Amino acid sequence: MLAGKRILLIIGGGIAAYKALELIRLLRGQGASVTPVLTRAGAEFVTPLSVAALAGEPLHQDLFDLTTEAEMGHIQLSRAADLVVVAPCTADLMAKMAQGHATDLASTLLMATDKRVLIAPAMNVRMWEHPATQRNLATLTGDGILTIGPDIGDMACGEHGPGRMAEPAAILAAIDTALSDGPLKGRHILVTSGPTHEPIDPVRYIANRSSGQQGSALAAALRDLGAQVSFVTGPASTPPPAGVTVIRVDTAQQMLEAVQSALPADAAIFAAAVADWRVKNEAGQKMKKIAGALPTLEFAENPDILATISHHAQRPPLVVGFAAETESVIAHAQAKRLRKGCDWIIANDVSPATGIMGGAENAVHLITADSVEDWPRLPKAEVARRIAARIAATLGPAA
Ligand code: C5P
Repeated sequence: MLAGKRILLIIGGGIAAYKALELIRLLRGQGASVTPVLTRAGAEFVTPLSVAALAGEPLHQDLFDLTTEAEMGHIQLSRAADLVVVAPCTADLMAKMAQGHATDLASTLLMATDKRVLIAPAMNVRMWEHPATQRNLATLTGDGILTIGPDIGDMACGEHGPGRMAEPAAILAAIDTALSDGPLKGRHILVTSGPTHEPIDPVRYIANRSSGQQGSALAAALRDLGAQVSFVTGPASTPPPAGVTVIRVDTAQQMLEAVQSALPADAAIFAAAVADWRVKNEAGQKMKKIAGALPTLEFAENPDILATISHHAQRPPLVVGFAAETESVIAHAQAKRLRKGCDWIIANDVSPATGIMGGAENAVHLITADSVEDWPRLPKAEVARRIAARIAATLGPAA
C-alpha cells in the first residue's frame, strides 16, 4: 500500500522528534519516499543531518529559501506528496493549524496543501488536556485532519498521562489507512467501547464485566475499510487497536462529553457498556470503616449517550446501538431501537449459558426499521467485519 507513495513529514519540536527518525526508516522500508521538513524547534531535538540522511532527500527548513523557491516553491512542495504527516505535532503546531497561521514553512505547507493531513500529537499531559488544545483538536477533527494518539504513559517531563506520541509502528499503520482506498475512506466514525467506572470515593468505583473486545474489533474493522475512527473507551481490558484516535474516559458523563466533542461523524456505534447509575453521594475522601455503621450509597441516573446522540442537533446519519439481553432478545431490542431513536440495534443474548459476555464469539441479530437478520455464531472480529461492511454499504462512498 505504501510502496511508491510520497509522504511530506513535518517534524515539530518535541522530545518525541527522535521517534520521527524511526518513522522515516519504517516508511522507506515499505517503499515510500519521505520529503522531510524540520521546524526550528524540531532542529533543537534532532539534527538536520540525521533527518536528511535517513530520508535520503534534501531537508526543508526555511520558508524563504531562495534555492528551493526557485526549484519548486512551498506550494508545490505541499502538493507533491500523497499525504502530509506531522510527527510530533506540538500544541503550538495544533494551535497554528486550527487558527490557519502561515508563519513558518511548516504552517505554510499545512495551509497550502490539498492533501489529507495526519497529525501525531505529542506534548505534556497538562498541555494536551488544556481546554485550548482540546478546542483546537475539535476544530482540526471538524476540518477533516486525521489524528493518531497521543498514547498514555510516562513522559520525558516526569509526568504520567495522555501526551506521548503514538509509536512509529502505529503511525505507520495510520498512514497506511489514510492512504488506503477502502470503501469508508473519507468517513469519520465514532465508536464507544468498554465499561465505565463510576466512583464511590477516590479509590473505589462501580464497574461491569465488559472487556471491550467487540468495540475494539469494530474500531479495527472500520479502520481497515479506510474510516477515520474516534474510539471513545472506558477502562477496558482489551487494548484499543492501532491507527485509531483513542479518547480514554472513566465515567458515563465523561464518555458523553468525549462523544459530543468528537462530532460531527458520519456514523456512531455505541458498543460501550455504560453504567446506568452513578453514585450521587460520591465521597471526596476515602470512606472510613466505622465499627457497626454501614455506608449507604445513593444513586443518580447517568445520561443515556445513545439516546442523547440519536436526538442531537449533530446526529450522525447512521446511529447504531447494542442490546445485551437475557430473554425475549428480539422483542426487547426492537422496543429499545424505538425508545433510543437509533437506526440499528445489534442485539445479542448474554445469558451465562451462551458464554458470549467476555468470550471470543458472538451471535447477533441486526435489527433495522424494517428487518431482523439472524447472524450465525461467529468470532467477534468476524462480527465486527460484517457490521463494518454493512455500514460501508449503507453510507456509500464519501463525497
Ligand atoms: O439501555 P441499554 O443499556 O440496554 O442500551 C444499550 C445501548 O445503549 C448500547 O448501545 C449502549 O452503548 C448504549 N447506552 C448508552 N448510554 C447509557 C446506557 C446505554 O450509550 N447510559
